[in-house]
Amino acid sequence: MEIPKTIADVTLGLARPSDATTIARMSKRLIEVGLPWSWKPGRVAEHIRHRESVVLTARVGEELAGFAIMQFSDKTAHLNLLAVEPTYEGLGVGRRLVEWLEETAITAGTFVIVLEVRATNVGARWFYRRLGYREDRCIAGYYCRVENAVRMVRDLKVA
Ligand SMILES: CC(C)(COP(=O)(O)OP(=O)(O)OC[C@H]1O[C@@H](n2cnc3c(N)ncnc32)[C@H](O)[C@@H]1OP(=O)(O)O)[C@@H](O)C(=O)NCCC(=O)NCCS
Repeated sequence: MEIPKTIADVTLGLARPSDATTIARMSKRLIEVGLPWSWKPGRVAEHIRHRESVVLTARVGEELAGFAIMQFSDKTAHLNLLAVEPTYEGLGVGRRLVEWLEETAITAGTFVIVLEVRATNVGARWFYRRLGYREDRCIAGYYCRVENAVRMVRDLKVA
């Protein structure tokens, strides 16, 4: 895997149906580590099809460097999943994915973004704080009743 020199090598775009398996495998490998695999290809494919979800990809050429899944409802948007391939971490890919989704939420008239992150995922918690998210509360046993989550929120109107 060749590392791009700059973030300019990364292109954002909507996921294609054929991305479902790669995204599901990235979720298993990078996000759901140590938990039962819940984001399998069929579930990801549903979100790619669903009108109230956006599945966003970051590509370098044809290679998937990262992805994010956001689900929209009337008042809030829920960031379900986000991952960047380790080779591409630290280049700003995660920030670009989140900012793209935030712009989309604003366009849709949805200003509150909510997400849960594993309490032990200190790196991701720092990442979201850098992007303006605040830690709202801890949810005990959120992941399969065995692992706690931290709910994080960003109000784009305040931002
Ligand atoms: C968390 C993750 C998405 C960050 O992606 P990334 O592309 O490396 O992040 P960026 O390069 O866009 O970083 C954006 C900002 O967050 C900061 N940041 C990123 N990772 C960080 C970490 N582990 N610790 C502290 N700060 C961090 C960066 O320094 C940067 O700050 P700046 O823009 O103010 O200089 C990526 O590490 C990842 O996919 N991790 C595994 C999966 C995961 O935990 N997903 C989130 C929960 S679903």
